[in-house]
Amino acid sequence: MNEAISIKDLYFSYNSNIQILKNINLTINHNEVFGLLGPNGAGKTTLLECVQGVRNGYTGNIIVNGLDVRKDSDQIKPLIGVQFQSNSYFDYIRVDELFEFFAILYNMKITENEIKDLLNKVNMQEHKRSYVNKLSGGQKQRVSIALSILNKPQVLFLDEPTTGLDPNSRKDLWNIIKDIRKEGTTIILTTHYMEEVEALCDNVCFINNGSIYTVGKPEEIIENANLNSFIKIGLIADSDVQYLESCPTVETIKKEEDFFYLYTKDIRKTIDYINKLEDEKRITTTSINIQKANLEDVFLNMTGSVLKV
Ligand SMILES: Nc1ncnc2c1ncn2[C@@H]1O[C@H](COP(=O)(O)OP(=O)(O)OP(=O)(O)O)[C@@H](O)[C@H]1O
Ligand SMILES: [Mg+2]
Repeated sequence: MNEAISIKDLYFSYNSNIQILKNINLTINHNEVFGLLGPNGAGKTTLLECVQGVRNGYTGNIIVNGLDVRKDSDQIKPLIGVQFQSNSYFDYIRVDELFEFFAILYNMKITENEIKDLLNKVNMQEHKRSYVNKLSGGQKQRVSIALSILNKPQVLFLDEPTTGLDPNSRKDLWNIIKDIRKEGTTIILTTHYMEEVEALCDNVCFINNGSIYTVGKPEEIIENANLNSFIKIGLIADSDVQYLESCPTVETIKKEEDFFYLYTKDIRKTIDYINKLEDEKRITTTSINIQKANLEDVFLNMTGSVLKV
């Protein structure tokens, strides 16, 4: 069985009149990094909470590592790790005490060395004795990721792990997440950042208003969306544009300043055609730049919503 998580026909509402999650069907494979993408209020955190067994009252079925979340939640809890979207830890507790406290919650014993190893993983070894309220936002995020893997989970949930971090800290955390994945962990993360998806995710799911719009590999989603991409091209002689107009895969041509913008759904055929024109009609280009649709464009096109809110 290659499925770490299987969600079938899931519906959920906090109160009976508003459906928050509708007809969710998803399969997440072992050892993949799976991204949940959607604007604020889409239902990402709620969906994670249903899978974690925190939310009751859903209809449908959720299976984690072959166990039914509704019936076997006691067996599932030791198998999963959770990093919450907002962390409010006790202010006057030291980092090492926090690990000891979490170990108690997991019914585990944790040694000094184990705490050191966990802090090493997130480059926080020097802060073992720091008080939590003296840590920066990024340092707290690192601690919370280390806490989420304290029980060596098979499935790890990261809810916007890098929101609010500067670009360097974000990249550091990506490396930490990649290392955790190398140890065989399945990771489900929510994010608003496309670069994060590109750096980490094998598969992603677009969610908006509680419904799934699409699931797949990021590059396939972009490919299948078949959105207009454009080619920005400079010509020695502007009059040569007449040849470009005859290209069957070009839908529109716009001129702005010194460049022509060729809108097309088939970049490759259009470039081939331009190359042919260069050979046969002797047109000369000064530059050719390809601008492809990204996941953000696809999301907007599919849902009418922007990802970053
Ligand atoms: N405890 C709650 N009680 C009632 N409604 C809630 C509760 N938590 C969330 N909601 C509602 O459920 C919807 C989905 O919220 P959720 O937190 O799952 O969104 P999200 O996709 O995680 O958003 P964000 O990107 O802002 O974190 C929202 O309309 C929200 O107002
Ligand atoms: Mg959320």
